[in-house]
Amino acid sequence: MAPVTTQTIEQTLSIVKPDAVEQNMIGNILEYFEREGLNIVAAKMLRLSLDQAKAFYAVHKDRPFFQELVDFMASGPVLVMVLQGENAIARNRQIMGATDPSKAESGTIRADFATSIERNAVHGSDSPQTAKAEIAFFFKPNEICPRS
Ligand code: CMP
Repeated sequence: MAPVTTQTIEQTLSIVKPDAVEQNMIGNILEYFEREGLNIVAAKMLRLSLDQAKAFYAVHKDRPFFQELVDFMASGPVLVMVLQGENAIARNRQIMGATDPSKAESGTIRADFATSIERNAVHGSDSPQTAKAEIAFFFKPNEICPRS
């Protein structure tokens, strides 16, 4: 009898932040995802307005770093993407490493490319609910090309 396997194919939102775009690190960063079997099923380059950055990070609106975070995210172009793969939400977070690059495991994107907790190269959704909301924030369903 064939073994029973459980696969959870998920989609998650990923952002290459202004610091990494400015340093021409987009290609290097995308390689980390593709090497680990996460497929890029949607992508667009855009520059967030201050209002968009505020809305996207609204969950942090009472944190002391909120204004700095919003200013930084609107300071230059970003690449927003949908990544798809098995357990994509948790695996993306492993590939990114800890929010604070000084605590990120070696070989993770943030250990390799981030310079501070704010200029930390990438964002990734932290739960299935967040992933759904964050994907819908940037993409219409017909802008996503899922892999079968
Ligand atoms: P991100 O994964 O995009 O989610 C929220 C962001 O807030 C986080 O990455 C950091 O860039 C930023 N952030 C979190 N904590 C701090 C902090 N103490 N100071 C400045 N920025 C922070």
